[in-house]
Amino acid sequence: MRILKNNLFVSLFLLVSSRLVSGDDYIVGTPKPKAPSSPQVREYNFDVKKVTLAPDGFSRRIWTVNGQFPGPPIVAFKNDQVKVKVTNNLGDQETSIHWHGIKQVGTPWYDGSVGVTGCAIPNGKSLTYDFKTPDPGTYWWHSHYIAQYVDGIAGSFIVHDPADPYLSLYDEEFTVLLTDYHHDEVSTNLGILQLPFDAGFREPSPDNGLINGRNNYNCTKAPAGSKCTANAGYAKFKFQRGKRYRLRLINTSAQALIFFSIDNHDLNIIETDGFDIKFQQAHRVPVHAGQRVSVVVIANQAADNFWMRGEIDVQCYFQPPVNLDPKFNAIVHYEGAKENVDPTTKPWTDALEHCIDLNPNTLKPLNPELIPSPVGTSLSLFLDVHPDEQKRVRFFINNSSFVHDENNPIINKVYNNYNLSAINPNQNLYTFNKLGEVIQVVIQRDHPFHLHGHNFWVLGVGQNETYQQGVSTLNTVTAIKRDTAVVPSAGWLVIRFVADNPGVWMFHCHIEWHFQLGMSVQFLEIPDKLKTLSQPPEARSLCP
Ligand code: C2O
Ligand code: CU
Repeated sequence: MRILKNNLFVSLFLLVSSRLVSGDDYIVGTPKPKAPSSPQVREYNFDVKKVTLAPDGFSRRIWTVNGQFPGPPIVAFKNDQVKVKVTNNLGDQETSIHWHGIKQVGTPWYDGSVGVTGCAIPNGKSLTYDFKTPDPGTYWWHSHYIAQYVDGIAGSFIVHDPADPYLSLYDEEFTVLLTDYHHDEVSTNLGILQLPFDAGFREPSPDNGLINGRNNYNCTKAPAGSKCTANAGYAKFKFQRGKRYRLRLINTSAQALIFFSIDNHDLNIIETDGFDIKFQQAHRVPVHAGQRVSVVVIANQAADNFWMRGEIDVQCYFQPPVNLDPKFNAIVHYEGAKENVDPTTKPWTDALEHCIDLNPNTLKPLNPELIPSPVGTSLSLFLDVHPDEQKRVRFFINNSSFVHDENNPIINKVYNNYNLSAINPNQNLYTFNKLGEVIQVVIQRDHPFHLHGHNFWVLGVGQNETYQQGVSTLNTVTAIKRDTAVVPSAGWLVIRFVADNPGVWMFHCHIEWHFQLGMSVQFLEIPDKLKTLSQPPEARSLCP
């Protein structure tokens, strides 16, 4: 009864307050949430359906969860249990949700990677994902079924830590979703990828960039016959002078590396993909597809309006995007500043290198860990792209292009005692049998790589050199951790992790187009232990 009353009060309040601000809604900081005294079960219902929306003024069908774009945020505390009942109401397509960065220890079948940890949810059916959140940090969720997240199925996933070592350094927090944005549906864009290589390979061009699902769009660029309204509006973040804000930046792009900044404000980096970093000051921060970075921003300016900026690094495409203004905006509005005016502030001018990450060598862990050695298994992965026999472009890892075995995922093959040595080479399967073994992976040439089921130490990167030339610079003492890291073009990346999470974990390029064209491997970790975990019948029953 009390809950009901509160809800009524809240909705009345929202109704009244939204009238007062006449649709010009500000995003206000979230106060630090009170930690529960014991772990909680957090339940969510995700109704996956298509809805027509116009986030930047251009109307299109968007694949949504509960009709929302961006999707509903998931918020939990360390050690909570999260249960998300996902119901597929798309009508004509399967779906599956991946919880990017959540390690799924003991629940590999809820990782959502179709053809690897399970099958997709057929239309009209549901699956309740049910897993723990032992690791605090900034994460996100997205569809892991045929580039579907590019049509809209993505949102934030925050795991709070009651003992967050940085809690005293900020007063409130914001989630800032950065994304490239396409007006064409994924099915059209996948068609572009299928053009013969002779036509000159290009990735689909984004039409815009969005911050928290908003930005303006120049409708004169929209094709004839489309529905487009100018000045759709920016996301507006409300600051109070003197307060300190943690901004959780999440890049949910199909492809883009995005440079983030706020005019006149320093960014203090404190987190990379759930890992605490020693305060590192910057003006502009690169965040690649799939990555998260937390920054603390101090509202130390006079009450005014400031541009928050995203910029797509157009140099990282095979061919420069057509018709794209790579710069996109939101507004930081100080309480007391003029309402409804665009800022007149100037951008930071710091030049950043193209197509590479935050330099892992200049970032230091807040709490250095003992990085395990010696290395048990050393893998070397060479990334490449070239046409196949049909003259279609494919992306290769060690000369093999990954193909999803949608209806018979590796996890099922393990449970069925399938002879894995007879597996199709296009499964790009690497098996680690020894629990606790230290795995080191050297990846060569150009692409942001994401590992499921783990985060990893970033021991080193090198640009315009071979791994052999750079190997002596590996940092095995104070390396930071991430779950998504960029392999520089004409360069290398070395990561290390411990095989301690029985399951099957994809390791793939987070540029969705490259992933769809085969740029993935899968790591089968401790199959003997995996077999002792019991796969829930409802997860298994999704497979035909
Ligand atoms: Cu964010 Cu395999 O994905
Ligand atoms: Cu790639």
